[in-house]
Amino acid sequence: MTIPSHLLTITPLAGKTAVVTGAGGGIGKAIAVLFASAGANVVIAEINEEAGKQAAAEIQSSGGHALFVATDVSKSASVQSMVQAALTRFGGLHVAVNNAAMQCDTTPVSELDEDYWNKIISVNFTGVALCLKWELQAMIAQGSGGSIINMASATIRKPGPQMPAYTAAKHGVLGLTRSAAMENGVHKIRVNALSPGGTMTELTATGLEKLGLTEADMASRIGVLGRFAKPEEIAHAALWLALDTSSYITGAFMPVDAGYDLV
Ligand SMILES: NC(=O)c1ccc[n+]([C@@H]2O[C@H](COP(=O)([O-])OP(=O)(O)OC[C@H]3O[C@@H](n4cnc5c(N)ncnc54)[C@H](O)[C@@H]3O)[C@@H](O)[C@H]2O)c1
Repeated sequence: MTIPSHLLTITPLAGKTAVVTGAGGGIGKAIAVLFASAGANVVIAEINEEAGKQAAAEIQSSGGHALFVATDVSKSASVQSMVQAALTRFGGLHVAVNNAAMQCDTTPVSELDEDYWNKIISVNFTGVALCLKWELQAMIAQGSGGSIINMASATIRKPGPQMPAYTAAKHGVLGLTRSAAMENGVHKIRVNALSPGGTMTELTATGLEKLGLTEADMASRIGVLGRFAKPEEIAHAALWLALDTSSYITGAFMPVDAGYDLV
């Protein structure tokens, strides 16, 4: 993946440190690459060590600043260590994107897969809560504000069939976002939820395969533009929420889903 050349001379995140969870692939990696091209020091917080190291190496070989920290967002001690590593290596924390997630479940509510429910809630919901806890503590102690972006999903606007745990976890992310925004405006920390629609990543490809569907089968059903998003299109929305150009936005839910609720 290459850094967009038109951004190489514009570095609005210079001097800032951004944590991106689940940045070994897909949307998270696109965000990490874009933030690095905008001048940020980027912490790749990822459970998949090979993918995380590779993402950090790609950023470094393009002249960016990146640190890979092996992280399991569902474990409080792991998230605490990751935030501490960011502070130790880069001296601060200004932006966080809580993006890591497991793939959707595939059964209706009436046949709930209870084991998968517990796993997905621990990563996609509790994981965001734990990231918020340790990121907020660091930002509050630092005293210079910050921007936190939680990755929600278009399933909040319209649930997909046979993904009750994923959908419920993403609704929970919205509740966490609003609670954290309400409590932390006083610290000048903004907290928003970014809500992608169908985006062509590993998570999407595996999900389609499990359901026996192709990209073409779904393209006209996921939004009025008749195509999946590229991860970079979600990353640009995250960059805007990270920057001071969105300085009066907090507690918001921002769809980037090509009108998913209109089809
Ligand atoms: N792709 C889509 O169509 C789509 C749509 C709506 C929302 N989203 C959301 O966007 C985010 C990124 O999705 P994606 O499609 O890029 O997914 P992806 O599967 O390509 O990437 C997710 C990353 O999270 C990592 N991860 C998983 N569990 C982890 C854990 N416990 N700790 C740390 N890292 C962990 C994975 O290793 C992977 O690198 C997710 O929150 C997802 O729910 C995606």
